[in-house]
Amino acid sequence: MNRSDQPFAIFAPATSANLGPGFDTLGLALDLYDEYRFEVSETTFVEVTGEAADETPTDESNLVLDAAIRYSRILGAEFRHRSVRQVSRIPVSRGLGSSAAATVAGIVAACRSAGIEVHHSKLIEQATAMEGHPDNVIPALTGGLSVIAQAGSGPVWTKVPFPSDLQIAIAVPETRIETDRARSVLPSKVDFADAVFNVSRAALLVSALQRSDYSVLAEAMRDRLHQPHRSPLHPALSEMMEAAYDAGAVGAALSGSGSAMIAFAESDAEGVGAAMRAACEAAGVSCESFTTHVCSEGLRVHPE
Ligand code: HSE
Repeated sequence: MNRSDQPFAIFAPATSANLGPGFDTLGLALDLYDEYRFEVSETTFVEVTGEAADETPTDESNLVLDAAIRYSRILGAEFRHRSVRQVSRIPVSRGLGSSAAATVAGIVAACRSAGIEVHHSKLIEQATAMEGHPDNVIPALTGGLSVIAQAGSGPVWTKVPFPSDLQIAIAVPETRIETDRARSVLPSKVDFADAVFNVSRAALLVSALQRSDYSVLAEAMRDRLHQPHRSPLHPALSEMMEAAYDAGAVGAALSGSGSAMIAFAESDAEGVGAAMRAACEAAGVSCESFTTHVCSEGLRVHPE
């Protein structure tokens, strides 16, 4: 790749981490994108439309620009595409990976602007170092469902095929939950039986998804490591989960650190989403719901 002054656009997907028992281990890319259009400019110009537009910085502290500038420095280059038009569609601070999307987009933008090809593993290492959550960063970059283990040398990960017939419902309460806060309520030690509970269910979940065996998903998506501790921060976690199952979901979980919920269904995902939304609204918190698909390719750059 050569250094280029041409404009380019990056589409970075939302991601849902954990899927219940796979705390810091499982991450799924969703068909919902933040979009960034970059042009060469001598001065910094950032325009943000969409989700949380009025709160998103339009100077160099803007997450995507900050990641691009920082990674350009690491590459030994200057980031020249300083005009950024951002269309935000991923709800912010709801556990749908909006900051991972911005970070990976910034890092990829730095490579594109400098005309330097960097191997995926390096990008992942860098994005994880900047953003902190490989279970969002890896699926955002590579798409689909990832299984991740943090090793001393960085994240070790693999892909699991996600069944194409499984429908996905997302419900997004108005309540924001900052990931740092949602991590601060977790215990520093866990009970041995709870660890076994989660290991068995995470393994069951991965296997069930690979085999499209939805009969075990509800059990496979139970968790004892994080959701019970995070529930007090959430307007209606157990009510929304129960509503999803009552409406026919085959599995449901908190998305990442919340407050969004993710549910899987064999049919009528829209009804499942509406049921979760109604349960949240019954608790006095407004909520939106939508259905989506898996984003199998991950982050895209146009033109390629
Ligand atoms: N696995 C992380 C957590 C994801 O649950 O804290 C953060 O989006």
